[in-house]
Amino acid sequence: MLEAIRAAELGDDVYGEDPTVNRLEELAAKKMGKEAALLTTSGTQANLVSVLSQTTRGDEVILEADAHMYYYEVGAFSALGGVIPRLVRGQAGVMTPRDIETVLRPPNIHFPPTSLICIENTHNRAGGTVWSPSQTKAVFDFSKSQGLNIHMDGARIFNAAVAQNIDVREFTRYVDTLMFCLSKGLSAPIGSLAVGDHEFIDRARRYRKMLGGGMRQAGVIAAPGIIAIEKMVDRLKDDHTNAKMLAKGLAKIEGISLDPSHVQTNIVLYDVAGLGASAEEWVAKMNEFGVKAGAQEGGRVRMVTHRGIEKEDIEYTLSVGEKVARQVNKKK
Ligand SMILES: Cc1ncc(COP(=O)(O)O)c(C=O)c1O
Repeated sequence: MLEAIRAAELGDDVYGEDPTVNRLEELAAKKMGKEAALLTTSGTQANLVSVLSQTTRGDEVILEADAHMYYYEVGAFSALGGVIPRLVRGQAGVMTPRDIETVLRPPNIHFPPTSLICIENTHNRAGGTVWSPSQTKAVFDFSKSQGLNIHMDGARIFNAAVAQNIDVREFTRYVDTLMFCLSKGLSAPIGSLAVGDHEFIDRARRYRKMLGGGMRQAGVIAAPGIIAIEKMVDRLKDDHTNAKMLAKGLAKIEGISLDPSHVQTNIVLYDVAGLGASAEEWVAKMNEFGVKAGAQEGGRVRMVTHRGIEKEDIEYTLSVGEKVARQVNKKK
């Protein structure tokens, strides 16, 4: 990727003149089976321009209660777009048409109009869980019956495709717009793409500029991004194998609670409350041995497998986990 950055042919992307960015955007659109794509600085920015392009101030957007767009994106679409979130509690991050129907409000002078449904595949806070194409289609069909668009936060959509061993278009055909990340498992240093039809991308491009995300010689970002899409998708299965191995090993440590069968992709969530430790304490101790993890609320810990993490690293992590469990187990 560093070599590709060095060799990248560059131009001014604000004027649409960076050939490497244009190549990446065409490639991304084609891969996703859509008309056009837009390179953004981050997944957060791609989600934000996607919402801004499909709503007006005062609209309501339906999301799963643990959606990254709601939980971790600084309330961006509300703060900057005046858009109100309406939350639905899903099952492992997946909403059904019935779930959505329950919260969908009819046109009424008292209610904000609903204009968009957002789904997340794979679902981060549910532990990297996959919305199957049939689950996606069910919600898509429902959205169309209500005249609504669907946006997919597909930060890790290639993980879903690899986990189900199907083409990524089996998911994208049931959404109007999506975003996916070149960073994360695809291993590029920077960048995400918003994807959809030409009209949507034209609007998203204006919003990206408004947000300060119009970049000049952005081919230095696009060049590794092309490698991410062309060469890094197949390697995701190694991350999934490693995550399953990690989950099975952690589940054997007394005091840790985790069901390894819930691990579908590259995210492992587990609970250390049974050790009498807080997630923060556990994470700090693991860090002392060079193992990184994220603390969440209620004793929940998150680990992610990615490029550069090999089988031996999982074995090391498990041996550290056993040691730390003995150290923090205040119940004994
Ligand atoms: C599901 C999901 N959506 C969006 C994002 C945001 O991506 P970024 O960190 O590039 O803004 C993330 C980041 O972890 C994510 O997990």
